[in-house]
Amino acid sequence: MSEYLLEMRNITKIFPGVRALDNVSFTLKKGEIHALMGENGAGKSTFIKVLTGVHRPDGGEIILDGKKIEMHDPLVAAKHGIAAIYQHLALYPDLTVAENIFMGHEKMTKMKSIKWRETNNAARELLDSLGSNISPTDRMGSLSVAQQQLVEIAKALSQNMQILIMDEPTAALSRRESEELYAIASKLRDRGISIILISHRFEDMYNLADRVTVFRDAQYIGTWDVNGIDNATLVKHMVGRSIDQFFPKGNAKIGETLLEVKNLSRTGYFADVSFKLHEGEILCLTGLVGAGRTEVVETISGITKPTGGEILFKGKPVRIQSPNQAMKMGIGLLPEDRQKQGLFLPWSIMDNITLPAIDRFASGIFRSGKRERAEGEKYKDALRIRATSVDDTASSLSGGNQQKVVVSKLLSGSNRILILDEPTKGVDVGSKAQIYEIMRNLTEQGFGILMISSELPEVINMSDNIVVMREGRVSTIIPASEATQESVLSAGMPLEKQA
Ligand SMILES: Nc1ncnc2c1ncn2[C@@H]1O[C@H](COP(=O)(O)OP(=O)(O)OP(=O)(O)O)[C@@H](O)[C@H]1O
Ligand SMILES: [Mg+2]
Repeated sequence: MSEYLLEMRNITKIFPGVRALDNVSFTLKKGEIHALMGENGAGKSTFIKVLTGVHRPDGGEIILDGKKIEMHDPLVAAKHGIAAIYQHLALYPDLTVAENIFMGHEKMTKMKSIKWRETNNAARELLDSLGSNISPTDRMGSLSVAQQQLVEIAKALSQNMQILIMDEPTAALSRRESEELYAIASKLRDRGISIILISHRFEDMYNLADRVTVFRDAQYIGTWDVNGIDNATLVKHMVGRSIDQFFPKGNAKIGETLLEVKNLSRTGYFADVSFKLHEGEILCLTGLVGAGRTEVVETISGITKPTGGEILFKGKPVRIQSPNQAMKMGIGLLPEDRQKQGLFLPWSIMDNITLPAIDRFASGIFRSGKRERAEGEKYKDALRIRATSVDDTASSLSGGNQQKVVVSKLLSGSNRILILDEPTKGVDVGSKAQIYEIMRNLTEQGFGILMISSELPEVINMSDNIVVMREGRVSTIIPASEATQESVLSAGMPLEKQA
């Protein structure tokens, strides 16, 4: 008997014009958590889709329990006990939790009608075993992302799962939800289930994984025990170079006040929020997910209306009625949900990037194709967007590379104030450094940046001042030079949790 539950040997997958996987290999032991890491576009999601039968490989073999298997389609994978939670969930929002769990393998009576009581009870048991109190009769659509993931896991458990694949499961979760997911993953490992974990958060890997495998540019680089490799070496394997200046130092001069909010309120979401953003400053809005950070910046950028307080732009009170008006004033927003709000998938990379700055590339009714292309190329290089050319459609890109297109789109506009909601979420370690570099350059040119972030190292190393929010209010504003991870965390903790 082999020491491995699963072996993937010499897997190759070719898309038109792109070799997404080039002869890669991977092994999985029973009851281990194995992290799969690599830059955006390295081939991680494609690899998972080969394992789950979504994509047919152009070469290689899959060996499960010592037997070679053919993965024709996702149903075959499910039959073998292989289940995946993807970056984007694929559940039925209008059905109940129990219906989603038993979809496709319903508990039927002889008369072919569904046994509801049994279904709901079985769902209850599964959810209990995961330590969750979600009700089996709740509608799926009413649950948070974290709860929906849990239902996915329960669904997989109901089908005798032996391998669980999690592709960036914590990208949309708060810190506490992530910790709950870690706890569940460890519990499943103790039951002998093997887990493949894909994440750009090193924290996820260190918290959970036993071994780590790195892919780079469609190739297999290596596999290590997590305890047997240091961070710098791992990063070097992922990026192919060492990154010595991960957080670049800022030299920007802090100038005039660009934007001020005074006692800004929106009933039910946040109240009495006041802070100032200056030229050349990076101001970070942090706190737990749900503390009202996104709601504040949505109000500032004209998506929603305040119910109290004021917004001052260069000292003058303004009413920002729409995102369009905010944009005309030079306020650009990088939204949190980029796939939905930031990108036009059928368009090319170039057209997506140059859209907000279209005026700059037009003369009369003609667009200057050459300059548009140059602009597209500039960002493709600066952010290392992995594509054959700027003419590739956004839909053909990996998740992280799509994010980079949205960031480029924002930077190419003619804004003076940038509002970045979790700018490095889902972005690989090399591109993170690149985005930080660009942020520093912009502040040196006098831009003001308001950044929402939950990543504490990013909060502390990239901002000048930190606004910590708690339950819809500003808890404190601290200069980054005086902040520690602990002080920022504790200022954001809900009051009843504090001693
Ligand atoms: N359906 C497709 N058609 C064409 N090219 C594709 C398709 N799916 C993926 N690719 C390409 O294959 C390569 C690998 O993509 P993949 O999604 O596997 O990357 P990834 O490692 O998951 O990246 P990320 O960290 O950004 O999620 C990329 O160059 C991507 O553009
Ligand atoms: Mg991916």
